[in-house]
Amino acid sequence: MGNRFRQITMLALLGFFLGTASAWHQVSKEQDAGYQVAQIEPAAGTSLMGSEIGGPFTLIDHEGRQVTERNYEGSYKLIFFGFTYCPDVCPVELRKMAEAMKEMGPVAANIQPIFITTDPARDTPETMKQYVKMFHPRLVGLTGSPDELKKVRDEYKVYAAKVEDPKLSDYTMNHSSYMFLMGPDNEPLALFTTQDSPADIAQDVQNIIGNI
Ligand code: NI
Repeated sequence: MGNRFRQITMLALLGFFLGTASAWHQVSKEQDAGYQVAQIEPAAGTSLMGSEIGGPFTLIDHEGRQVTERNYEGSYKLIFFGFTYCPDVCPVELRKMAEAMKEMGPVAANIQPIFITTDPARDTPETMKQYVKMFHPRLVGLTGSPDELKKVRDEYKVYAAKVEDPKLSDYTMNHSSYMFLMGPDNEPLALFTTQDSPADIAQDVQNIIGNI
């Protein structure tokens, strides 16, 4: 494990997720408005080993096929939750995911990148198909029923909520911006945040996969 990597207890992690999730995605707006925003993200490369993050799902991929977590068994997975209409954080994080995979070299061949929408009303399989190909040729986009997606977010302790913005013609969403590294048997391994660079992520993933 790299020096950056640290263990935190599941209790602290849960408190972190539930306590700060609603602040997500408002950070940049508040900075634009000139407010000082407290640093609320955890340190880079948080271990999730032994935690209960993740779980089964039945979703629809960007080709319109029904898939479950079993479709991706045997591969490591980098999973990010967001929505295609996201103006800033999601595209930045998905580009980062692709860049990290490039920096990993051959290790990346063992990783399935996955983008799970928080906005199924707008993110149809066709919309997801057009979106994911902008980031990585193997990126899988998953959508599904609101209930099933809520279940998956609960399994990953991910927060998402619609926000009506009078300056916009349509709604936007606040949501957690975490990248999860899951193992071949869907075991949770690590969490990355917006603070992690592609090089940070690549290094941690290489360390983790090399040590298992
Ligand atoms: Ni977003």
